[in-house]
Amino acid sequence: MLYEREALDTPEWWQGLDEMIERQHEQYPESVQTALIPLLHYVQNAFGYVPEKAINHIAQALGVPTAYVCGVASFYSYFSLEPKGAFTISVCLGTACFVRGAQAILDEFCRQLDVEAGGTTSDRIFTVSDSSRCLGACGQAPVVMIDDDVHAKVVAQDVADIVAEYEARARREMQAREERARADARSHVQ
Ligand code: FES
Repeated sequence: MLYEREALDTPEWWQGLDEMIERQHEQYPESVQTALIPLLHYVQNAFGYVPEKAINHIAQALGVPTAYVCGVASFYSYFSLEPKGAFTISVCLGTACFVRGAQAILDEFCRQLDVEAGGTTSDRIFTVSDSSRCLGACGQAPVVMIDDDVHAKVVAQDVADIVAEYEARARREMQAREERARADARSHVQ
């Protein structure tokens, strides 16, 4: 199963982007960079990363070179030009977690998912972050965050169950989406 985010390649989505570009352009006529940041957020929130086609589209609409938009997107670590998984696993490597075995937990995630730290699984369900500093929950060390979910006092033996839980969640989401798409298709036929 290849996890894909909500199908966004619809004319409505691109129209929404165009409307936002227009608003940003009007609001910040003197600063393309200021206008660009919310647009890049909008794209990344939708796709999970900033795809080349969106970069080209924005560059053309703002009348700037593609390399400029790319440069702004790659300057900020929040933006990714590579596809990311549905879930991002962040194993805290701060001191309190490190001394309680966080590195072994990170290694176990990488081993089970067959990726290097920083990598994304081939089914695009997981990205394993390679740089997680103190997550502010030292009393719960070692801590793993998966998106906004905090997993406290994790041990390497928990990793398989955690992975299975999120894989099941991704599958349920994909199934629900397929059912919605089938229901939509049926309602168009009727
Ligand atoms: S060191 Fe891991 S939460 Fe603080």
